[in-house]
Amino acid sequence: DKGNHRHFMEKEIHEQPEAISHTLSHYIDFTDGTIGAFDDTIDFSKLTNLAISACGTAYLAGVTGKYWFERYARLPVEIDVASEFRYREVPLPKTAAALFISQSGETADTLASLRYCKAEGLKIGAVVNVRESTIARESDAIFPILAGPEIGVASTKAFTCQLTVLASLAIRAGRQRGTLTAAEEKELVAHLAEMPRVMSRVLNSIQPQIEGLARELSKFKDVLYLGRGTSYPIAMEGALKLKEISYIHAEGYAAGELKHGPIALIDENMPVIVIAPHDRFFEKTVSNMQEVAARGGRIIFVTDAKGAKASELPTMATIVLPEVDEAIQPMIFSLPIQLLAYHTAVFMGTDVDQPRNLAKSVTVE
Ligand code: F6R
Repeated sequence: DKGNHRHFMEKEIHEQPEAISHTLSHYIDFTDGTIGAFDDTIDFSKLTNLAISACGTAYLAGVTGKYWFERYARLPVEIDVASEFRYREVPLPKTAAALFISQSGETADTLASLRYCKAEGLKIGAVVNVRESTIARESDAIFPILAGPEIGVASTKAFTCQLTVLASLAIRAGRQRGTLTAAEEKELVAHLAEMPRVMSRVLNSIQPQIEGLARELSKFKDVLYLGRGTSYPIAMEGALKLKEISYIHAEGYAAGELKHGPIALIDENMPVIVIAPHDRFFEKTVSNMQEVAARGGRIIFVTDAKGAKASELPTMATIVLPEVDEAIQPMIFSLPIQLLAYHTAVFMGTDVDQPRNLAKSVTVE
């Protein structure tokens, strides 16, 4: 049932504050504001490495997770798309654990990667939505994302719920490894707990602007997304969402890679969507934006209030989100890129919930 929404995808985008509340209630102990005692099968304190593998949007959640595990838990992360991971013969010590991220829990390549790691004798964790799935069944530890059923082929709420679980796990790992203090944990948990409220505010405020912008965007054939730090996987996710449902060609790049190739493409026919909250990478990303502007590129600037004030570059549009802690930026900045893809596809009249050639669950290689 789509309720009063035109598509499941729209419904699922708007369900995110509620879905994330469910996720948080599983991972946070609200009595003391810490990450709660969930499945402890994987002892992060003794790990030397973490391997993460997944496909598509779930893979991009994993890339974001890598930044968190490395920063908060100082735990080295190896990550690859499952279709490569399964055949790479990745050398992993017995002191590693492996995490597999999958909404459906049935993705063939992800399952094959899991079985490879199992045969190597590693502890296996599954970040899944469907708890009765094969990937969940074959894992030692299950970390449910609790997003509720996701019907739209393009993943939205499962992505932000996966991010929420990965952030929680990284904080937990940081405490177990002694790289986060109790006070730091509480501060991070307080930021996670803010998410549902901030998300509702963002979803209610940016809709009209995004619809107008989507009308513009639907006229282009190519779009480039740029981001740095955890905004890099969000840039890739933005590009994936747009190409999947609107069929506009889109690429996500690390902002610093611009001058190593994609800058050759910049002209007035390829809008550049720059995802840049005012964080420790902001100045660097703005200098990449300057390079785009200097070559006549059109910029769609997705930033926060502080970032909007700090840059005077002319843009095609500036989408201003609330200033939030770095730990929750990926979830909050997912909202405008999801809505932009959605409304662009609606303008173009594509089948948003059932895009051509795509399946919700990919059980063949
Ligand atoms: C993108 C999308 C796909 C899936 C991918 C993995 O919007 O939905 O890229 O993320 O096929 O699927 P799961 O998470 O079920 O393993």
